[in-house]
Amino acid sequence: MGRVHKNFKVRAPDPRLAIIDERLKDVKRIFVVVSGKGGVGKSLIATTLSLILTKRGRSVGLLDLDFHGPSCHIILGTKGAMPTEEKGIIPPEVHGIKFMSVVYYVGDEPLPLRGTEISDAFTELLAITKWGRVDYLIVDAPPGMGEEVLDVIRLMERSEFLIVTTPSSLALKTVSRLTRLLLEVRAPILGVVENMRITETKLVEEHAKKFGIKYLGPILFDYNLEECFSNPKKLLGTKFARNVRDIAKKIL
Ligand SMILES: Nc1ncnc2c1ncn2[C@@H]1O[C@H](COP(=O)(O)OP(=O)(O)O)[C@@H](O)[C@H]1O
Ligand SMILES: [Mg+2]
Repeated sequence: MGRVHKNFKVRAPDPRLAIIDERLKDVKRIFVVVSGKGGVGKSLIATTLSLILTKRGRSVGLLDLDFHGPSCHIILGTKGAMPTEEKGIIPPEVHGIKFMSVVYYVGDEPLPLRGTEISDAFTELLAITKWGRVDYLIVDAPPGMGEEVLDVIRLMERSEFLIVTTPSSLALKTVSRLTRLLLEVRAPILGVVENMRITETKLVEEHAKKFGIKYLGPILFDYNLEECFSNPKKLLGTKFARNVRDIAKKIL
């Protein structure tokens, strides 16, 4: 185990870390969808990728960790499915996906948690959730930089990161910081996805080249997504999903 809680005020080893390792032991791969920025399509990509992998017969877990604005439950359409308790918490199966979200704990209330409390809630969530045997655990990460990402690395050591950006110099500025951070801590990077492409541009490809990471291709701007929320069948029929399938091929 050897890992120590990085909350500098508390130097004692956190017993939950060992439990988390046990909880994740039958999870084959962990993909974490990150961007550093909000509104670039992380939740939509994480959810669609989960549906695509499930459709291919893989067992998939989807974990929405966005404490600021959980949204996978809306995209997926969870229809009141709730976790159940059995010496831990068992995620409900929604459209074949084992689904867990911070929304089960924070609801629609304005978030009372901040800073280290979020980190603590995240640790607790991982310690109680029983994923069982899962081929892929897809994690929708919070938009923050730094602490949030370091928490993911600390708590889920086998995480592989899927970076999402839009082809905008504004998004890329944040994404550059995030990429540098991930490279610095030697976290495995699956590559970078260019989402919401409207016109031809090389911005994201150049970003990938500059940092020596894989460019996973574009996802075009799709005007029909809104009406697909809570309707996986419809979502899987979109151009958006077709683009995500191409990306899935490159990372599996
Ligand atoms: N390729 C795309 N084409 C059109 N709209 C998109 C696309 N990707 C994401 N969106 C929309 O952008 C908004 C933000 O997406 P979301 O997945 O919530 O981003 P994030 O999780 O990064 O904050 C949503 O309304 C979503 O429907
Ligand atoms: Mg989101």
